[in-house]
Amino acid sequence: MEEQVTEQKKKFQILHDRPNCIGCAACAAVAPDFWTMHEDGKSDIVGSKKNDDETEELDIDEKDYNENKEAADSCPVNVIHITNKETKEKII
Ligand code: F3S
Repeated sequence: MEEQVTEQKKKFQILHDRPNCIGCAACAAVAPDFWTMHEDGKSDIVGSKKNDDETEELDIDEKDYNENKEAADSCPVNVIHITNKETKEKII
């Protein structure tokens, strides 16, 4: 029973439009548990799935929303997006 709850917990999806990342590094400063700087000067979402179009995505728990929302808010070129997977609402 508890395992099912865990499975359904990942409520949000973060998406990094990596091709348009300018390497500002604010995301990694604000949310170092999730964002790290790569040697090519752009950031990566830690443990994310890499897409063919070079975007990256990661499903996160509700408890990790605030940290990633802060990262998204801090990005000067708005290449970090968050979607509520339950409602399909694009938050940022
Ligand atoms: Fe890139 Fe924005 Fe982070 S430009 S390095 S995603 S703050």
